[in-house]
Amino acid sequence: MSGLHVGRQCILLSGLLLNLLIALILLSKIGSQNGFLEHPKRQTVYCYFENMNGPPGMIVLLWLRNWHIRGFNPRLLTLEHAEAHPNYHQYVEAFDRLPTVNHRRYELGCYRRWLALRTVGGGTFSDYDILPFGPVKVPPINSTTFASYTEYAPMYSHGGLDGLLRYIDFMATYSGPVPFTYDKPHLSDMVLLRGNMNSLLTDNLPPPPLLHFSKHENEQFIAQSGQQSKKERFAADSALMVRLTGRRVTLLMPPGVQLVGDPVDSGFGMRRERVDELISYFKQCTCQKQIAPYIPKSFDDLSVTITDTFPNVISGVDLIFFVYAPDMANLYDKDTLDALVEHIESPHTIPLLANDPEAIQLVIGYNLGWIGEEPIAFTYSHGPAGPHRLFHKKFNQLVQQYREIDGQLNIVKECIGGEGECNWKKPYK
Ligand SMILES: *[C@@H]1O[C@H](CO)[C@@H](O)[C@H](O)[C@H]1NC(C)=O
Repeated sequence: MSGLHVGRQCILLSGLLLNLLIALILLSKIGSQNGFLEHPKRQTVYCYFENMNGPPGMIVLLWLRNWHIRGFNPRLLTLEHAEAHPNYHQYVEAFDRLPTVNHRRYELGCYRRWLALRTVGGGTFSDYDILPFGPVKVPPINSTTFASYTEYAPMYSHGGLDGLLRYIDFMATYSGPVPFTYDKPHLSDMVLLRGNMNSLLTDNLPPPPLLHFSKHENEQFIAQSGQQSKKERFAADSALMVRLTGRRVTLLMPPGVQLVGDPVDSGFGMRRERVDELISYFKQCTCQKQIAPYIPKSFDDLSVTITDTFPNVISGVDLIFFVYAPDMANLYDKDTLDALVEHIESPHTIPLLANDPEAIQLVIGYNLGWIGEEPIAFTYSHGPAGPHRLFHKKFNQLVQQYREIDGQLNIVKECIGGEGECNWKKPYK
């Protein structure tokens, strides 16, 4: 392994104490709503963080949003889940004996995440900086399963209770050969899995279209583009580019409504130079070729239309945001209004409440998979209210659902801040 790769197999975030009970209650509510947009069976995908360098950042929001867009139920696991594992202390002691060139605490976190995943019964795991760029299908997971990918092991993998235990025990009792990194003996959960794929995995699967926005990937991007760029911005812009390529995005505004500022700053569109920069990076990058079909050939492949007329919808292709407000003059033409009512329950029709910029930003984020730099704002003339109740109901449900998912991060942040209550209670019987 080259030195560059050391330590990028596992990223840990903050969150020493997390009020999981609250998170669980909030999350269980999502499923019980007969909401407009709920995927019938959202598969859970887990990531893991521990408090290493402060609170969780934008990359985790991107992770939540992009996995949600792909039909998953994204959940954060923390140290508290790991600690709830039976024999936690024995395992940590055993892991602590394995040599590493990394900070020990960081390395331990990488081992501990498998205990956390096992505590919740196993399932699909992803590093929080791995984002899906296309449809992702999860293989069947039974108790013996421990499945991963040559490209992503172990940062994206699937494990059942016995499969994970096999891996955990293998690491905890390891006494085989130890490779050297920087002239020092070094082991990690990645080294141990990658060196023993055949014996540990039940399946080595063909890779799904994921991209790992690691530090290394960002450094490659910076080197290639010549632009300083934060990894979060690189990831956010890439996610948005892919979303605007895969869907025909329409922003519907009735006459009389105007966007304040540049729509591009609010996620409706991207600048050509930025898209060119990203395309030329992805054309030559060593990042997995499975994302290639989702990268635009050129700027022209991105589709954003701002209009006041409802488009001819192709399901799965069109994504229509439309602006409304209870006190807004109903100036949509009749056909558009009829179409909005007809399509309101469809996942491709997304209402935006004109005078709630913060909620709009959240809704756009959960549908375009990015974090906007500027909240979007509209001006509009007041007038008689149209039939807005239906729109409002859907918008509120969406906002509530997205806030609950994002809320996982707020709980972690509050705990890290050390202010207020942060009593973690074991959510598992
Ligand atoms: C469990 O899953 C593994 C692969 O993940 C498969 O090989 C095995 O046949 C499955 N067992 C059962 C009982 O379905």
